[in-house]
Amino acid sequence: MSGTSLDGVDAVLLDAAAAPRVLASLHHPFDEPLRRELLALNAPGDNEIDRCARLGNELARRYAAAVGELLRSSGRQAAEIRAIGCHGQTVRHRPDRGYTLQIGNAALLAELAGIAVVADFRARDIAAGGQGAPLAPAFHATLFRHRSENRAVVNLGGIANVTRLPIEGTVLGFDCGPGNCLLDLWAAKHLGKRYDDNGEWAAGGTLLPALLGRLREEPFFAAPPPKSTGRDLFNQAWLAARLRNEEPRAVQATLLELTARCVADACKGAARVIACGGGTQNVALMRRIAALLEGVPVESSAAHGLDPSLVEAAAFAWLAERSLNSAPGNLAEVTGARGPRVLGAIYPK
Ligand SMILES: Nc1ncnc2c1ncn2[C@@H]1O[C@H](COP(=O)(O)OP(=O)(O)O)[C@@H](O)[C@H]1O
Ligand SMILES: [Mg+2]
Repeated sequence: MSGTSLDGVDAVLLDAAAAPRVLASLHHPFDEPLRRELLALNAPGDNEIDRCARLGNELARRYAAAVGELLRSSGRQAAEIRAIGCHGQTVRHRPDRGYTLQIGNAALLAELAGIAVVADFRARDIAAGGQGAPLAPAFHATLFRHRSENRAVVNLGGIANVTRLPIEGTVLGFDCGPGNCLLDLWAAKHLGKRYDDNGEWAAGGTLLPALLGRLREEPFFAAPPPKSTGRDLFNQAWLAARLRNEEPRAVQATLLELTARCVADACKGAARVIACGGGTQNVALMRRIAALLEGVPVESSAAHGLDPSLVEAAAFAWLAERSLNSAPGNLAEVTGARGPRVLGAIYPK
């Protein structure tokens, strides 16, 4: 898995039995040149086809290296692994135009790893009229649904998505807005760091109500689900168009409040919130979400048996298993697709 944050590759070895279990994991950060090229490809530019193809090859090599190291560290052989579930790197997400694009050459990955690969999970859902996202809700339901407690799961990645797990009835889920992506780009610009460590810079800033108001006018926030988004919307240009020369630290505090409010609004009514993704490391953000939810426990997924940084990667391993078993991976009520669909393309060993 490599997500919108462009922070790197998360790899897990998953036992995808009835109660999925992570057996081993690792994180390989992206180096700065790769990160910059990926970020650039998220916006229109020159010679995109060639850049996309070459970066797809480079990603396949990075993914293969992560798989190789995971096997070595866990003492496993490639032959013991049924498949690699490879999300790829999103460079465009435009369900409104009927497409989404995750790059990472799956054929090359299968060749390098000597393991079957399941990739391109989102396209089929979009072909069936859905958003192609979020796809983690079925996995969240498998892991975290509770018989007698109405729960919400929030993934604080570059974009934040929320899964609603009612005691009975339909599971809901949607992207609620930016997670870390705006916080990260503002921290990069003003601190020269990839992220605001623990949210400490934001925590010392003054909230700017007028700016928050302008940010929250974005129609995406008020739109009903199904909905999904990405860097196509929440990017440097989106933020710049709403700024009026405010003090940088106060902007960071306000961006944190924006993420916290989007998440809290999406979790209203839940008796417990389970959080995953790198944003769970942002102490100030987690505190603010909990404060807005007044008394509702907001916990890391670690308290429920899975490290928060591994949930998304585990979800795509689990989805790969579903694909290989010809079982649907999407929840049509979540994505808006015409029905359940078997997701992904299989590249045999
Ligand atoms: N110590 C930390 N303090 C604040 N934010 C953090 C910290 N560690 C990780 N993060 C955030 O988590 C992000 C990575 O989260 P991740 O779940 O991998 O997102 P994605 O799925 O979009 O790649 C980083 O870009 C950063 O914003
Ligand atoms: Mg990541």
